[in-house]
Amino acid sequence: MNRKPIFAANWKMNLGPSATEDFLKSFLSKTQGQAFPAEIVIAPPFVSLAKLADILHSPGASKEAQAIQIAAQNCSQFDSGAYTGEVSVLMLREFFVHYVIIGHSERRAIYGETDAIINAKIHKAREANLKPIFCIGETLAQREAGQLETVLRTQITEGLKGVSDKDMAEIVIAYEPVWAIGTGVTATSQQAQDAHAFVRSVVAGLYGADSAAKLRIQYGGSVKPGNAAELMACPDIDGALIGGAALEPQSFLEIIRNGSNPVS
Ligand code: PGA
Repeated sequence: MNRKPIFAANWKMNLGPSATEDFLKSFLSKTQGQAFPAEIVIAPPFVSLAKLADILHSPGASKEAQAIQIAAQNCSQFDSGAYTGEVSVLMLREFFVHYVIIGHSERRAIYGETDAIINAKIHKAREANLKPIFCIGETLAQREAGQLETVLRTQITEGLKGVSDKDMAEIVIAYEPVWAIGTGVTATSQQAQDAHAFVRSVVAGLYGADSAAKLRIQYGGSVKPGNAAELMACPDIDGALIGGAALEPQSFLEIIRNGSNPVS
């Protein structure tokens, strides 16, 4: 199965509008004239979406710029109304947003997002034709207690409840072991491959072998230029969701470059 890898920068609460402009100027000057056999996505903070949209979709934007997809880091599960601090999916559409990260472990742990909330957000995103980057992953305590498969199966089953086959085709799953996020500790490529193969098997059970074979599963957690090629060489790893190492244009670019031409 030929799945196009997807490399997404999750900037978290970093890079406001002016830093976004600086990042893009540098990133675009480095990618000028280069085509990658991969999809490139940037998820800035909400307040930087307008800057990103302006630059990537300005009349004179290069084809490399236009090829970059914009993602949001979160969305509301509601349409509109009295939800202080929230942003709706239709508002995101106004900024050329095509992807939305849903269920990141920081949202789960710090903001109390449950599988049910995440499921509601996935449905809301699909109503607006946004493509969810649906994050799952276990904590170190869960892994050490032998609960890896139970945790992943529950997150997948609950998060995707009621999602149609057609909508599933527009979803990317990001497997991010919580213990590897922002810690500098990466899962070994074998640990990552095993978890990805398991995720694909759970999706096959829910949606059939064909959907599972088409599903792109990103790895996330301390991905760096130095480990991207080895991780991406694993048969069930189809790209990366990158935090810290995507804050700097050269490092993000090297991950894309190294990861799109993986060593085998
Ligand atoms: P990290 O973050 O690359 O800084 O570990 C990944 C993520 O949280 O998506």
